[in-house]
Amino acid sequence: MTEITDVRSGRSLGAYDLRRATEAAARAAYAWIGRGDKSQGDCAAITAIETELAALGCNAQILIGEGPREETSQLYHGQRFGDPGRLPQWDIAVDPVEGTSFLAKGMTNAMACLAMAPTGSLFDPGPAFYMEKFAGPPAVKGRIDPQAPVEDKLTTLAGALNKPVEDLTIYVLEKPRHRELVERIHAKGARVALYPAGDVAGALMAAIPGSGIDALMGTGGCPEGMLSACAIRVMGGEFMARIDPQLATERRAVEAAGMDMEQWRRLEELVRSPEVVFCATGITTGLLFEGIERTATHERTQTLLVGGGAGERQLLTSWHRRIP
Ligand code: FBP
Repeated sequence: MTEITDVRSGRSLGAYDLRRATEAAARAAYAWIGRGDKSQGDCAAITAIETELAALGCNAQILIGEGPREETSQLYHGQRFGDPGRLPQWDIAVDPVEGTSFLAKGMTNAMACLAMAPTGSLFDPGPAFYMEKFAGPPAVKGRIDPQAPVEDKLTTLAGALNKPVEDLTIYVLEKPRHRELVERIHAKGARVALYPAGDVAGALMAAIPGSGIDALMGTGGCPEGMLSACAIRVMGGEFMARIDPQLATERRAVEAAGMDMEQWRRLEELVRSPEVVFCATGITTGLLFEGIERTATHERTQTLLVGGGAGERQLLTSWHRRIP
């Protein structure tokens, strides 16, 4: 990641500097916390992240963003940043506001997320919007059969973590499609942490040993899944996914694209390079970090930064001077 150059200063940047994009998005979204409007905060964050990506000057292209070019003019699939002749080349996965409903309702867990990986190394979910996911800590890496019944996954997880099933906590999105999953987890004796939205936080917590969340199960968005996969690829942990369309139009598009809905993809197939950088900045305070805090002169951000070095996970607290 040392090949990234800031076009404003000409200075060579490290991965550390990518955080500016998610911090800018989070700061832009701040004004829209708790105002009941999902799209205005999202729009502000999209514009802020786009501006910062353009300033970074790296040769990068959006693989997972706000949608196809026909549907959006910002952060669309294929949008390029920087000099196309410049090496190395990067693919971007971005979600300027993960948890737009949290943002609009002033609830916890809204964040801005961004990942970059060498071109061609990220799985492209194409027309699929939903995927079924399993995320867990490093101790279960390679030990979970994604096709196995949930009860067996819980037994394997408990064994790997050396604790009884009763002490497991599984993060699941609170959706009608997960009713049976939740019943079966309860019947097996484990706890369920139900959240109305936000499965990036759930997946990352699941991958972090001792976080209080032992695994994430269930179906959520593909962009969120790929962002989680990028972070977990570097941090360590398990992540697997299978395309799982929830809408009739989505299913038809996935079938037309010839995508296999039964195939579970392992982490190394979803993210084929370890050279990945992931940043996420809190908008509202959540499980992973605190949200924006404003004083008369400054805005404080907290950003989780993963990759671009020894694969460390860092939590950065920054104070940004407010422009009068
Ligand atoms: P938004 O940012 O669009 O609110 O989505 C958040 C989220 O909860 C994701 O974390 C999750 O992957 C996805 O939506 C699930 O989608 P749905 O709410 O349609 O089931």
